[in-house]
Amino acid sequence: MIKKDINQNDILNSELLNIIDYNYIFDENPIKRIITKPVLENSKSRLETLKKKIQTIENCNLKKNASKIVFADGNIESSIMIVGEGPGQKEDELGKPFVGDAGSLLNKMLRAINIERDKIYITNVVNYRPPNNRKPESKEINKYSEFLKEHISIIDPKILILMGSTAMEAILGSNKRISKERGQWKDVIIKQKNYKTIVTFHPAYLLRKPEQKKFSWEDLKIIRKEIDKKNISI
Ligand code: URA
Repeated sequence: MIKKDINQNDILNSELLNIIDYNYIFDENPIKRIITKPVLENSKSRLETLKKKIQTIENCNLKKNASKIVFADGNIESSIMIVGEGPGQKEDELGKPFVGDAGSLLNKMLRAINIERDKIYITNVVNYRPPNNRKPESKEINKYSEFLKEHISIIDPKILILMGSTAMEAILGSNKRISKERGQWKDVIIKQKNYKTIVTFHPAYLLRKPEQKKFSWEDLKIIRKEIDKKNISI
Protein backbone atom coordinates (compact mmCIF):
# COMPACT_ATOMS: atom_id res chain seq x y z
CA MET A 1 0.00 0.00 0.00
CA ILE A 2 1.28 3.49 -0.83
CA LYS A 3 1.15 5.75 2.15
CA LYS A 4 0.17 9.26 1.14
CA ASP A 5 1.70 12.18 2.97
CA ILE A 6 -0.98 14.42 4.36
CA ASN A 7 -0.12 18.06 4.19
CA GLN A 8 -1.79 21.12 5.68
CA ASN A 9 -3.96 21.70 2.59
CA ASP A 10 -5.32 18.13 2.68
CA ILE A 11 -6.30 18.60 6.29
CA LEU A 12 -7.93 21.92 5.50
CA ASN A 13 -9.79 20.49 2.52
CA SER A 14 -11.16 17.52 4.41
CA GLU A 15 -12.22 19.81 7.24
CA LEU A 16 -13.91 22.08 4.70
CA LEU A 17 -15.79 19.17 3.13
CA ASN A 18 -17.14 18.25 6.52
CA ILE A 19 -18.57 21.66 7.23
CA ILE A 20 -19.95 22.63 3.81
CA ASP A 21 -23.70 22.24 3.50
CA TYR A 22 -24.77 20.13 0.47
CA ASN A 23 -27.18 22.90 -0.64
CA TYR A 24 -24.15 25.07 -1.22
CA ILE A 25 -22.55 22.47 -3.49
CA PHE A 26 -25.66 21.77 -5.56
CA ASP A 27 -26.82 25.37 -5.77
CA GLU A 28 -27.11 26.47 -9.39
CA ASN A 29 -26.10 30.06 -8.72
CA PRO A 30 -22.46 30.87 -9.38
CA ILE A 31 -20.31 31.17 -6.28
CA LYS A 32 -19.43 34.81 -5.67
CA ARG A 33 -15.77 34.68 -4.80
CA ILE A 34 -14.65 38.27 -5.31
CA ILE A 35 -16.53 40.67 -3.10
CA THR A 36 -13.69 42.88 -1.91
CA LYS A 37 -14.19 45.83 -4.24
CA PRO A 38 -17.91 46.44 -3.75
CA VAL A 39 -17.48 46.17 0.04
CA LEU A 40 -14.68 48.76 -0.07
CA GLU A 41 -16.63 51.11 -2.34
CA ASN A 42 -19.63 50.72 -0.10
CA SER A 43 -17.59 51.56 3.02
CA LYS A 44 -16.11 54.64 1.34
CA SER A 45 -19.48 56.04 0.40
CA ARG A 46 -20.99 55.22 3.81
CA LEU A 47 -18.06 57.03 5.47
CA GLU A 48 -18.61 60.07 3.23
CA THR A 49 -22.30 60.10 4.15
CA LEU A 50 -21.46 59.81 7.85
CA LYS A 51 -18.94 62.64 7.62
CA LYS A 52 -21.52 64.87 5.91
CA LYS A 53 -24.07 64.00 8.59
CA ILE A 54 -21.63 65.11 11.31
CA GLN A 55 -20.75 68.28 9.39
CA THR A 56 -24.41 69.28 9.26
CA ILE A 57 -25.05 68.67 12.98
CA GLU A 58 -27.03 71.52 14.52
CA ASN A 59 -26.87 73.29 17.89
CA CYS A 60 -23.49 71.86 18.71
CA ASN A 61 -21.18 73.95 20.88
CA LEU A 62 -18.21 71.84 19.94
CA LYS A 63 -18.70 72.44 16.23
CA LYS A 64 -19.26 76.20 16.77
CA ASN A 65 -15.92 76.57 18.56
CA ALA A 66 -13.74 74.27 16.49
CA SER A 67 -11.98 75.22 13.29
CA LYS A 68 -12.64 72.00 11.39
CA ILE A 69 -13.93 68.45 11.62
CA VAL A 70 -11.50 65.72 12.70
CA PHE A 71 -13.10 62.63 11.24
CA ALA A 72 -10.61 59.74 11.20
CA ASP A 73 -7.26 58.50 9.99
CA GLY A 74 -5.80 55.25 8.71
CA ASN A 75 -6.78 52.20 6.77
CA ILE A 76 -10.54 51.81 6.29
CA GLU A 77 -10.07 48.09 5.65
CA SER A 78 -8.23 47.50 8.90
CA SER A 79 -9.27 44.82 11.39
CA ILE A 80 -8.26 47.09 14.23
CA MET A 81 -10.07 50.27 15.20
CA ILE A 82 -9.04 52.68 17.95
CA VAL A 83 -11.40 55.21 19.48
CA GLY A 84 -9.99 58.16 21.43
CA GLU A 85 -11.75 61.09 23.10
CA GLY A 86 -11.70 64.17 20.90
CA PRO A 87 -9.35 66.45 18.98
CA GLY A 88 -6.89 68.74 20.73
CA GLN A 89 -5.31 71.90 19.33
CA LYS A 90 -2.96 70.21 16.87
CA GLU A 91 -5.69 67.86 15.62
CA ASP A 92 -8.01 70.85 15.16
CA GLU A 93 -5.35 72.61 13.10
CA LEU A 94 -4.54 69.63 10.90
CA GLY A 95 -7.93 67.89 10.74
CA LYS A 96 -6.36 64.56 11.75
CA PRO A 97 -6.72 62.59 15.00
CA PHE A 98 -3.80 61.87 17.34
CA VAL A 99 -1.14 64.10 15.80
CA GLY A 100 0.00 65.91 18.97
CA ASP A 101 1.90 64.60 22.00
CA ALA A 102 -0.73 61.96 22.79
CA GLY A 103 -0.50 60.85 19.17
CA SER A 104 3.27 60.43 19.38
CA LEU A 105 2.85 58.27 22.46
CA LEU A 106 0.10 56.28 20.75
CA ASN A 107 2.41 55.59 17.80
CA LYS A 108 5.10 54.36 20.20
CA MET A 109 2.64 52.14 22.06
CA LEU A 110 1.48 50.57 18.79
CA ARG A 111 5.03 50.05 17.57
CA ALA A 112 5.83 48.26 20.83
CA ILE A 113 3.39 45.53 19.79
CA ASN A 114 4.52 45.60 16.19
CA ILE A 115 1.71 47.62 14.71
CA GLU A 116 2.30 50.54 12.35
CA ARG A 117 -0.21 53.29 12.90
CA ASP A 118 -1.10 53.70 9.22
CA LYS A 119 -2.21 50.05 9.06
CA ILE A 120 -5.05 50.57 11.53
CA TYR A 121 -8.06 52.90 11.75
CA ILE A 122 -8.33 55.71 14.30
CA THR A 123 -11.18 58.00 15.26
CA ASN A 124 -12.55 59.86 18.29
CA VAL A 125 -15.85 60.04 20.15
CA VAL A 126 -16.36 63.72 19.33
CA ASN A 127 -15.20 65.01 15.97
CA TYR A 128 -14.78 68.68 16.95
CA ARG A 129 -12.28 70.06 19.43
CA PRO A 130 -13.88 70.87 22.81
CA PRO A 131 -13.10 74.47 23.91
CA ASN A 132 -9.86 74.66 25.94
CA ASN A 133 -9.46 70.91 25.49
CA ARG A 134 -12.08 70.20 28.15
CA LYS A 135 -13.49 66.70 28.46
CA PRO A 136 -16.68 66.24 26.41
CA GLU A 137 -19.83 66.40 28.57
CA SER A 138 -22.11 63.38 28.91
CA LYS A 139 -24.78 64.93 26.68
CA GLU A 140 -22.17 65.53 23.99
CA ILE A 141 -20.86 62.00 24.36
CA ASN A 142 -24.41 60.66 23.96
CA LYS A 143 -25.08 62.78 20.92
CA TYR A 144 -21.86 61.72 19.16
CA SER A 145 -22.09 58.09 20.23
CA GLU A 146 -24.75 57.53 17.55
CA PHE A 147 -22.27 58.66 14.89
CA LEU A 148 -19.52 56.62 16.49
CA LYS A 149 -21.62 53.44 16.46
CA GLU A 150 -22.35 53.98 12.78
CA HIS A 151 -18.62 54.57 12.22
CA ILE A 152 -17.74 51.28 13.97
CA SER A 153 -20.32 49.36 12.01
CA ILE A 154 -18.92 50.70 8.70
CA ILE A 155 -15.31 49.83 9.56
CA ASP A 156 -16.48 46.53 11.08
CA PRO A 157 -13.24 45.80 12.98
CA LYS A 158 -12.26 42.45 14.47
CA ILE A 159 -10.77 44.28 17.43
CA LEU A 160 -12.14 47.51 18.89
CA ILE A 161 -9.90 49.44 21.29
CA LEU A 162 -11.52 52.09 23.46
CA MET A 163 -8.91 54.50 24.77
CA GLY A 164 -9.93 56.43 27.86
CA SER A 165 -13.07 57.00 29.86
CA THR A 166 -14.85 59.07 27.18
CA ALA A 167 -14.62 56.26 24.61
CA MET A 168 -15.65 53.78 27.31
CA GLU A 169 -18.69 55.91 28.22
CA ALA A 170 -19.74 56.33 24.58
CA ILE A 171 -19.83 52.58 23.98
CA LEU A 172 -20.32 50.91 27.37
CA GLY A 173 -22.37 53.63 29.09
CA SER A 174 -21.63 55.79 32.12
CA ASN A 175 -20.99 54.79 35.75
CA LYS A 176 -18.08 52.56 34.88
CA ARG A 177 -14.57 52.96 36.19
CA ILE A 178 -11.80 52.58 33.69
CA SER A 179 -9.41 51.15 36.27
CA LYS A 180 -11.89 48.28 36.72
CA GLU A 181 -12.88 47.77 33.09
CA ARG A 182 -9.51 47.98 31.37
CA GLY A 183 -7.57 44.99 30.11
CA GLN A 184 -10.49 42.57 29.65
CA TRP A 185 -12.13 41.45 26.43
CA LYS A 186 -15.78 42.37 26.21
CA ASP A 187 -18.42 41.36 23.70
CA VAL A 188 -20.17 44.55 22.66
CA ILE A 189 -23.20 44.51 20.40
CA ILE A 190 -23.41 47.44 18.01
CA LYS A 191 -26.12 47.45 15.32
CA GLN A 192 -26.80 43.74 15.90
CA LYS A 193 -23.18 42.74 15.51
CA ASN A 194 -20.77 41.57 18.16
CA TYR A 195 -17.46 43.40 18.48
CA LYS A 196 -14.51 42.08 20.47
CA THR A 197 -13.70 45.14 22.54
CA ILE A 198 -11.08 46.18 25.05
CA VAL A 199 -10.80 49.31 27.18
CA THR A 200 -7.41 50.76 27.99
CA PHE A 201 -5.92 54.00 29.25
CA HIS A 202 -5.72 57.02 26.96
CA PRO A 203 -2.18 58.08 25.97
CA ALA A 204 -2.86 61.65 27.21
CA TYR A 205 -3.66 60.19 30.64
CA LEU A 206 -0.42 58.21 30.54
CA LEU A 207 1.48 61.42 29.82
CA ARG A 208 -0.02 62.91 32.97
CA LYS A 209 0.31 59.70 35.04
CA PRO A 210 3.39 57.81 33.84
CA GLU A 211 3.11 55.41 36.79
CA GLN A 212 0.05 53.91 35.02
CA LYS A 213 2.08 52.90 31.96
CA LYS A 214 2.70 49.44 33.41
CA PHE A 215 -1.05 48.71 33.19
CA SER A 216 -1.19 50.03 29.66
CA TRP A 217 1.64 47.69 28.71
CA GLU A 218 -0.32 44.73 30.14
CA ASP A 219 -3.28 45.74 27.95
CA LEU A 220 -1.12 46.10 24.86
CA LYS A 221 0.25 42.59 25.38
CA ILE A 222 -3.30 41.23 25.72
CA ILE A 223 -4.19 42.90 22.40
CA ARG A 224 -1.11 41.46 20.66
CA LYS A 225 -1.88 37.99 22.01
CA GLU A 226 -5.40 38.11 20.56
CA ILE A 227 -4.08 39.27 17.17
CA ASP A 228 -1.67 36.33 17.10
CA LYS A 229 -4.18 33.81 18.44
CA LYS A 230 -6.80 34.71 15.83
CA ASN A 231 -4.20 35.22 13.13
CA ILE A 232 -5.60 38.66 12.42
CA SER A 233 -3.79 40.25 9.51
CA ILE A 234 -2.85 43.86 10.03
N1 URA B 1 -6.68 62.86 22.14
C1 URA B 1 -7.72 62.20 21.58
O1 URA B 1 -8.50 61.56 22.23
N2 URA B 1 -7.83 62.26 20.27
C2 URA B 1 -7.01 62.92 19.52
O2 URA B 1 -7.22 62.92 18.32
C3 URA B 1 -5.94 63.58 20.12
C4 URA B 1 -5.78 63.55 21.44
